[in-house]
Amino acid sequence: MAQQEQERRLVTFRVKRYNPEGGERKRYTQEYKLEVMKGQSVLDCLNDIRWKQDGSLTFRRSCKSGICGSCAMTINGVNRLACETQVFALGASTITIEPLRGFTVIKDLAVDIDPMVEKIHAVRPYLITKSPPPSDAERLQSPEERARLDGLYECILCGSCTSSCPSFWADENYLGPHAFLKAYRFIADSRDEAPGEHFDALDDKHGLWRCHTIFNCVEACPKSLNPTKAIEALRRELVKEKIG
Ligand code: F3S
Repeated sequence: MAQQEQERRLVTFRVKRYNPEGGERKRYTQEYKLEVMKGQSVLDCLNDIRWKQDGSLTFRRSCKSGICGSCAMTINGVNRLACETQVFALGASTITIEPLRGFTVIKDLAVDIDPMVEKIHAVRPYLITKSPPPSDAERLQSPEERARLDGLYECILCGSCTSSCPSFWADENYLGPHAFLKAYRFIADSRDEAPGEHFDALDDKHGLWRCHTIFNCVEACPKSLNPTKAIEALRRELVKEKIG
């Protein structure tokens, strides 16, 4: 019996909901109770609630493997991927779930990620080359040059970092750590031949200089990446670029 209790637990999920067509009851908190088994993630539980209790509960999910970034949300005050967050590991009998802060909510836990994607486009997130490609091979890198991209390319664009950043809360046009990390992934690439073209959007009042080195973005990243380090490196590169 005691073993069974260790394997199962009654958990209350307090979900911040938003219904744009809800009239006076647009924003409210709804509680759901669920018997959770050891090993279940928050996403498993949200699916259970949606399928068995309330089909109107809205949230994003796709890969269920921590790769697509779709299920980022604020769980007990911390931005996390719901699919990678084990309910038992939270150690609480009540779990509060909110949409990512700072983004416009479309419905319940689903936020509008279009502005986030536009900011990535602004930094031109691709290799820019000027020289003709080699005729007999791809553009090659040494192992050392490739290793410089570790910690930069793994971003899954979940938005957890930008959503946790006070500079973003104060300025919705702030590019945000996700865009900085993406820009540095290409500026640091030995095959890129036009760093200045990535810098256009970064050297702006909504760009690099608005970061106050608060580090929330580092704590929030579910992939343990370090946008603040990328921001510092970008500032050094930008100064070098400016003074020629
Ligand atoms: Fe924001 Fe991260 Fe800078 S939290 S202020 S982008 S160090």
